[in-house]
Amino acid sequence: MAGGREHVCRHVGIIMDGNGRWAQARGLPRTSGHLEGLKTARRIVEAAGKLGLSYLTLYVFSTENWKRAQGEVDFIMGLVKAHLLREMDFYRENGIRIRHAGDETALNADIRAELRKAMDQTKNFPGLQVVLALNYGGRDEIVRAVRRAAAAGVGAGGLDEKGLSSFLDNPDIPDPDLIVRTGGDFRSSNFLLWESAYAEFAFSPKFWPDWTEADLRDALADFGSRERRYGDTKR
Ligand code: IPE
Ligand code: IPE
Ligand code: MG
Repeated sequence: MAGGREHVCRHVGIIMDGNGRWAQARGLPRTSGHLEGLKTARRIVEAAGKLGLSYLTLYVFSTENWKRAQGEVDFIMGLVKAHLLREMDFYRENGIRIRHAGDETALNADIRAELRKAMDQTKNFPGLQVVLALNYGGRDEIVRAVRRAAAAGVGAGGLDEKGLSSFLDNPDIPDPDLIVRTGGDFRSSNFLLWESAYAEFAFSPKFWPDWTEADLRDALADFGSRERRYGDTKR
């Protein structure tokens, strides 16, 4: 059903931005911001489950983030790996299923292995699905989808929107209803380009490490008051 105010939020995507500035404002190295940002991510994952969301996509590392200093890249990858290793109990207790979006072929073999293990061990958990967008780029995802279609023998003439969608990274997951960006900037930075066609957007001036459950609640309340018309007219 298009339009109207009767919409629930099933899927939230978050561009978790501002870790580096949070740290710099405290005279700390950028890496401290990433460490603090991970704690926030854990809090928000817990809150998202409690608030009844079905899917939460977290922008962890973009296809452009490889440009950063090697030390920072290594630190972020190390954090992700350690988190996946350590949090199995947390996933089990909360029924969380881990998914991945992005090009996993460019990830180090050890992270790739941890990611696969976490996805496999949580695949039957019934609660919130947390999609880690890791080495993710929206344009890259579309290019990979087109290549998969070609490899499956679907020529350009046979592709339509639904068909191309079915070759994206997680075709079973509904498009995000709401995309949040923290950290004060107003851009998508290559996040979920295809899937965000009709997402609502929310921008928070707070740096990601300062984000709380209350901020998520506020964003969801605001989302609930919006009218999603999908190109139709108001009725
Ligand atoms: C987001 O925080 C985390 C990643 C992009 C990996 P930043 O590291 O971009 O923090 P700022 O934007 O520089 O403050
Ligand atoms: C977007 O943040 C990517 C993630 C949050 C993982 P960036 O900090 O990389 O985005 P830009 O460079 O400000 O656009
Ligand atoms: Mg940033």
